Amino acid sequence: MQASSQAFSDMAATRNSTLDDTFYKKADAFFAANSKVGLTYDDITLATLYSEILPRNTQLDTRLADGLQLNIPAISADMDTVTESRMAIAMALNGGLGLIHYNMPERQQLSEVSRVKYHVQGLIQDPIKIAPDQLIGDVLKLIEEKKFGFSTFPVVDEQGKLLGLLSGHVVKPRYATKKVIEALTPRKSVHTITKKELGKDPIARADNFFTEHLGIHKLLVVDDADHLHGLITMSDVERITLERKAQFKPARDAQFRLVCGAAVSATRNAFGELDRGRILEHVSALVERGVDVVAVSTAHGHSKGVGDTVKVLRDAFPKLPIIAGNVTSAASVEYLADCGANAIKVGQGPGSICTTRIVAGVGIPQMTALYVCSRAAAKKKVSILADGGITKSGDIVKALTLAQGVICGGMFAGCTEAPGDVVEISGKMYKHYRGMGSLAAMKSGSAARYGHEKADTTRKVAAEGIEALKEVCGSVDRVLATLIGGIQSGMGYLGAKDLAELRVKARYIRVSPAGQREAAPHDVVELKTGN
Ligand code: IMP
Repeated sequence: MQASSQAFSDMAATRNSTLDDTFYKKADAFFAANSKVGLTYDDITLATLYSEILPRNTQLDTRLADGLQLNIPAISADMDTVTESRMAIAMALNGGLGLIHYNMPERQQLSEVSRVKYHVQGLIQDPIKIAPDQLIGDVLKLIEEKKFGFSTFPVVDEQGKLLGLLSGHVVKPRYATKKVIEALTPRKSVHTITKKELGKDPIARADNFFTEHLGIHKLLVVDDADHLHGLITMSDVERITLERKAQFKPARDAQFRLVCGAAVSATRNAFGELDRGRILEHVSALVERGVDVVAVSTAHGHSKGVGDTVKVLRDAFPKLPIIAGNVTSAASVEYLADCGANAIKVGQGPGSICTTRIVAGVGIPQMTALYVCSRAAAKKKVSILADGGITKSGDIVKALTLAQGVICGGMFAGCTEAPGDVVEISGKMYKHYRGMGSLAAMKSGSAARYGHEKADTTRKVAAEGIEALKEVCGSVDRVLATLIGGIQSGMGYLGAKDLAELRVKARYIRVSPAGQREAAPHDVVELKTGN
């Protein structure tokens, strides 16, 4: 009897209602019924479904291409105020990906990629070093000036060879007039490990070391010639060991290095032809540095220049994951997929700093564009990335009902890890955030992305982006924790245990202007924001 009532309640819970089906439509029916209007995130909402899934148990891993798997579906945009190595490291440590922008000399982009690929978590690769003839007073001044939260420093000679360790116990005002060389713990008493000895899992190796060496909290990394290459601290190792138990692991390659992407442009030579040689040379160097994916980033991906660039790269690097874009039509997805792209960026005009729709009168609201592109992508077995216009975690949930990942600029531009300094205006802290199609960004190199020549001063160039400010919002860890929490809630509401299920289960309905007002806090005096 009990068993049959259980079966009955199970049936009741999962049963479909024809009434629901009339109002809440699956993607194909919904977007076909709304084909006369361009819809974006706030124009729609998702209908909830019977769920046995707890948000914290949902999985967020996503496969963008053979050989490119992320543990969370978030990518930081290839913009010069968003992603350099610091941002890319933070994104990968959280399970996502950073695309290093190309508004810098090619050589510099290579070193940015190297920084990410050689980032050993917990290993401070370029620790602050002290020279032997400095005074302790100089070291105290340095700590004060730079606001260092530590007072132990490796001491090296002019060639970078390790001479000893200046311990925090002697960095005291009473010793201010003493020279570092008189106060340091000499080389022979300093614990070191060679880069080779660190092996594949440096943290586990360092963790063992600290357990075996009672009271030692710092381990210096040297090469065979005793040049200093890094510093590992016990507190970092302990933090990382804790993080390893976290649900979303760092995104790593087969050799345990963090994943990293780099943007490249469809560079032209002086005759206006695609500069195949230069593109190939640069991407070969990126591949040598271990880049996991290149993104051929332009405003108009459905163009010969982008298609040819993708083809050249596909021929030269058959296994390299390639992202290409940006597009908003099915034909463009098919074109780029046929050229050899694995993941296509979808978004023309939704960006928070973008004026493409105003200046050029083109572009498609994001949900409609994603739907159209997703169907072409499924046919061609490629993935799509929702690029631009994301301002809250709910937008990401909606985007992920159609796309395999999202690319965000504005959401990360206020983070500590974004390039650029913090500026204070009327007591509030901001960071600069600018479109890659803004005049300032194009002057420093990104003109090719918008089909303009950097050196072209004779013609008036129409900017398609603005220069702006973003309020400082703390670390990427913090921002992502909030976003991931929101994505997992959305999946719980839809009873989706992973992103594939979210795509299958999603049902949509349009929202009226009054419905949009209802969706945000209203008729109250807000004391604190949800964040
Ligand atoms: P956001 O996340 O809404 O701030 O949008 C970021 C996205 O806007 C980027 O990933 C690019 O696809 C796009 N974008 C970047 N710069 C420009 C620009 O100057 N004009 C138009 N779109 C841009």
